[in-house]
Amino acid sequence: MNKKYIVANWKMNPTSAEEARSLAQEIQRVARAEIILCPPFPFLHLVRDAAPGVSLGAQDCFWEQEGAYTGEVSPAQLKSMGCSYVLLGHSERRIHLGETREMVNKKVQAALGAGLIPIVLIGEEDRSQTGKGLADSMERVLAGVSKEDRARLFLVYEPVWAISTSEGGEPARPEEAKEAIGRMREAACGARILYGGSVDASNAASFLRDGEADGVAVGSASLRAQEFLQLVKQAEEV
Ligand code: PGA
Repeated sequence: MNKKYIVANWKMNPTSAEEARSLAQEIQRVARAEIILCPPFPFLHLVRDAAPGVSLGAQDCFWEQEGAYTGEVSPAQLKSMGCSYVLLGHSERRIHLGETREMVNKKVQAALGAGLIPIVLIGEEDRSQTGKGLADSMERVLAGVSKEDRARLFLVYEPVWAISTSEGGEPARPEEAKEAIGRMREAACGARILYGGSVDASNAASFLRDGEADGVAVGSASLRAQEFLQLVKQAEEV
């Protein structure tokens, strides 16, 4: 049975270090390297110490390793903090901060250069366009990335319309995810491909089994410890 990866994207939550520590401690109860916790930057350190059995990921990085870039965080710094992974290209960064695919491409290359595994999020905005444009988006964010490096990546099919906090957001149907993931596999050179968007304990297994995903990226449900633990259990049984 192949490993199934579960990425927990906490986004800009929770608001206090105490809550972040106790959430990490809860998740440590099922600690496994295939669980990748991605807390906000200020909590990386305490999550690393509270949940040493899971993998650590950041939610973004800059495209240079050091220098005069006020407020940015470099891949080399994340690596030295104990991160193995970094989320790149989340649609919320495009929507709220104007991040472009070309910026994401530079970040992917810098992350690989520092020895981090990029978890690159890709997905269309319009449900009627499901699966379309994915190859183009992939080419733009992965331009110049060698076949060998592509094989190390994690890609997430995460349509904007499926994200729980998007207006009217509801999960893709497993067959929609399967079709999109299939298209992505053609250009992925062996990268692992996950599904993200309103994943919870009730549907995670269907994306892994029927959607043929190598894992899931979880936002809101990863902040509810009991539900997240349940989700991990379901994934284990697939
Ligand atoms: P959601 O978020 O699980 O709350 O839909 C997914 C994500 O944006 O990673």
